[in-house]
Amino acid sequence: MKALTVIPHQAGSAELSDVDEPPVSDGPIVVETLAVGICGTDIEILSGAYGWAPPGRERLVLGHESLGRVLEAPVDAPVAAGDLVVGIVRRPDPVPCANCAVMEWDFCRNGRYTERGIKELDGYLSERYRIAPEFVVKVDPSLGSLGVLLEPTSVVAKAWEDVDRVGRRAHWSPERVLVTGAGPIGLLAAMLGVQQGLDVHVLDQMTSGVKPDLVRELGATYHSGSVVDACDGPDVIIECTGVANVILDAMQHVGIGGVVCLTGVSSGGHAIQFDEGALNRNMVLENIAVVGSVNANRRHYEAAARALAEADHAWLDRVVSRRVPLARWEEALTRRTDDVKVVVEVGTSGPS
Ligand code: BGC
Repeated sequence: MKALTVIPHQAGSAELSDVDEPPVSDGPIVVETLAVGICGTDIEILSGAYGWAPPGRERLVLGHESLGRVLEAPVDAPVAAGDLVVGIVRRPDPVPCANCAVMEWDFCRNGRYTERGIKELDGYLSERYRIAPEFVVKVDPSLGSLGVLLEPTSVVAKAWEDVDRVGRRAHWSPERVLVTGAGPIGLLAAMLGVQQGLDVHVLDQMTSGVKPDLVRELGATYHSGSVVDACDGPDVIIECTGVANVILDAMQHVGIGGVVCLTGVSSGGHAIQFDEGALNRNMVLENIAVVGSVNANRRHYEAAARALAEADHAWLDRVVSRRVPLARWEEALTRRTDDVKVVVEVGTSGPS
């Protein structure tokens, strides 16, 4: 079967390869891949900056934002042939650590977790894959091809859960939230904020085009410019850019007792000067909490599946801004100005 593979840490090594059918050891459920979303992590892997091949292998099958249709499943599995499904990305570490032991692999304590399409496990960008029942999540059939947004939505569902848990260290009734970055993660974080009835503001560099429109259609307020001009003193900031000065501004301008949740992964190597003492003083005297958040466990995928099912499907359809057939995969990896979420279409029998 065909798969998009890459040699991690070797830029320009991506190719459409012929690979073996998925091994039975991956699980009893056989899934036909319909679509795979491309995100910043994939671009980093393709640039040679991130990613690990399975032990003893040179190439890794790419792809962690999946949507597929079940071809075969055991009778006692939670999914059946024909169901639309998404594969969970992370697998618990083999020890397992205290968190992986209770299926909270997103908080793995020893770093020995694996991730499909990223760290030591083949991803979903192949014509078929196999998976164990505990790592597959059913998608509401009404979502159809939009189910490919489930994995990125799971990441922001976890971020919101983290914000809520940290916020509850004191009386917590947030009203205003600022999301920095209007890429797919920022837009989906804003969508979850709107679903909670919050006054949502989104900051991005773009001054026109699809991103400002998507934010307004959501019922949120769009800003370009600085954090302080966009929204001074919000209860929550969900940081989705990974840009150093935006992160610092977020920590300095969140409201008293506020929570800043960092979801963007910075590339590093761009040191900037700032007054650490003033930042510390402000954070202590105002009870500011900054929390990093990565990945998602099953609970977050399920929350994300519910959030997507109740979202405006026409809006979600505009978040998926470009669909590229597998044969033309290279086009999916080249960013265009108005791209939001770019998806590689794999299967022939697309979802209805
Ligand atoms: C994925 C996460 C993963 C993280 C770090 C993100 O792009 O969505 O599932 O944990 O990369 O590898």
